[in-house]
Amino acid sequence: MTPGRCYGVGVGPGDPELLTVKAVRLLEACPVVAYFCAAGRESNARRVVRHHLRAEHTEMKLVYPLTTEAVGPSTYETLLADFYDQSAKRVAEVLDEGIDVAVLCEGDPFFFGSYMYLHHRLSDRYPSEVVPGVSSALAGAAVLGSPLASRNERFTVLSGVLPAHELEAGIAAADSIVVMKVGRNLDKVRDAVQRAGVLDRAYYLEWATLPNQQVMPLAEADGANAPYFSMVVIPSAGAIRR
Ligand SMILES: C[S@@+](CC[C@H](N)C(=O)[O-])C[C@H]1O[C@@H](n2cnc3c(N)ncnc32)[C@H](O)[C@@H]1O
Repeated sequence: MTPGRCYGVGVGPGDPELLTVKAVRLLEACPVVAYFCAAGRESNARRVVRHHLRAEHTEMKLVYPLTTEAVGPSTYETLLADFYDQSAKRVAEVLDEGIDVAVLCEGDPFFFGSYMYLHHRLSDRYPSEVVPGVSSALAGAAVLGSPLASRNERFTVLSGVLPAHELEAGIAAADSIVVMKVGRNLDKVRDAVQRAGVLDRAYYLEWATLPNQQVMPLAEADGANAPYFSMVVIPSAGAIRR
């Protein structure tokens, strides 16, 4: 039997109007829609596409195991690898029946996207296609109304999980910066931004493009309550001046 196709579908940062035409077409065409989510929580990616899901769709929830806090980082890495193996196996079982699967992914699938862990495990055995999505980093710049890079400027993306000294060095070496995965790293990120000397042009954004979006100078953000879906955008000095 010809196997089904696996689509990694980027659904954008949250605003359903930022879904691509291709994402909508494939969602409507794929009988099975898979998505990652935390236990007991609605999937953010599913929420973006919910108006395109019909009763005929079979939904496959891929529920993450315990949190890092519960088991410690090294055990969690092992748990996650097993989880992605199991998730890939579940998707493969459907593909083996000749059924196409759309795996939803917030933002863009290949930009810190969880779909990539399935792609690594499946794309050598099954026809696979990645549908790019609007990344939250780009949406953040649009929300701020500040260009991220022009002419020969250096644009850098950093993960807020990095140690403080690496964040500081990365920020100091770039003209414009987006820090992803801010959440509970917010205080550390703000210290690094301050030490790099650019706190005056750094902005904190949570739930960008959604109705509960919050945007404020990073200096005013509350480190105790930052959700996982938060980032820091630092436009270049030139972008602010022009
Ligand atoms: C696992 S990464 C996924 C990134 C995604 N693939 C993308 O292209 O935007 C999750 C991080 O993306 C950022 N993020 C995603 N959507 C966001 C939003 N609507 N507002 C603010 N940050 C967001 C946050 O930094 C969050 O911790």
